Amino acid sequence: MYSTLLSLHSLFRWLVLVILVYSIYRAFIGYTRNQPFSKTDNAFRHWTATVAHIQLMIGIVLYTQSPVVKYFWANTKTALLNLDLTFYGLIHIVLMLTAIVVLTIGSALAKRKPTDREKFKTMLVWFSIVLIILFIAIPWSFSPLSSRPYFRTF
Ligand code: HEM
Repeated sequence: MYSTLLSLHSLFRWLVLVILVYSIYRAFIGYTRNQPFSKTDNAFRHWTATVAHIQLMIGIVLYTQSPVVKYFWANTKTALLNLDLTFYGLIHIVLMLTAIVVLTIGSALAKRKPTDREKFKTMLVWFSIVLIILFIAIPWSFSPLSSRPYFRTF
């Protein structure tokens, strides 16, 4: 169960990133070219938030199963001295929850904006902030916080 969840969570990160980057691209093009906010734009706004929420669910279940997290909470005092343990026990979850809250607010605000240009601008700004947070909080193999593989097999 744990290794399957970890692999799924690792793989799902790519889906989150691809749909987020594409939505930002669409928002940028729509805003700079003054295009109408189409049904497709709205679908990407909606699906980006949905895909992130699915990753959030997987993350929450993984958090309850992870031996790393369990060790962190059982030995908090000493574990706080270890960056890898602190990353999964605290840093990753706090940053990712923040990112998903920002994404949800951005998506909801964009939906409610009266003009198409404002919709694109709102999406562009809020989703770009999310991308920056994700970039910091993902344990890339080059990350100074915690290093994990780009792909994990089951
Ligand atoms: C968009 C949001 C998120 C992304 C892109 C993301 C991405 C990742 C990645 C790439 C890994 C490394 C997987 C591996 O070792 O191969 C990871 C690990 C992990 N993530 Fe997330 N994550 C997200 C949200 C969350 C959330 C919200 C939680 C908790 C509520 C969470 C909990 C965990 C845990 C517990 C681990 C692994 C700990 C272990 O090694 O046992 N993640 N995440």
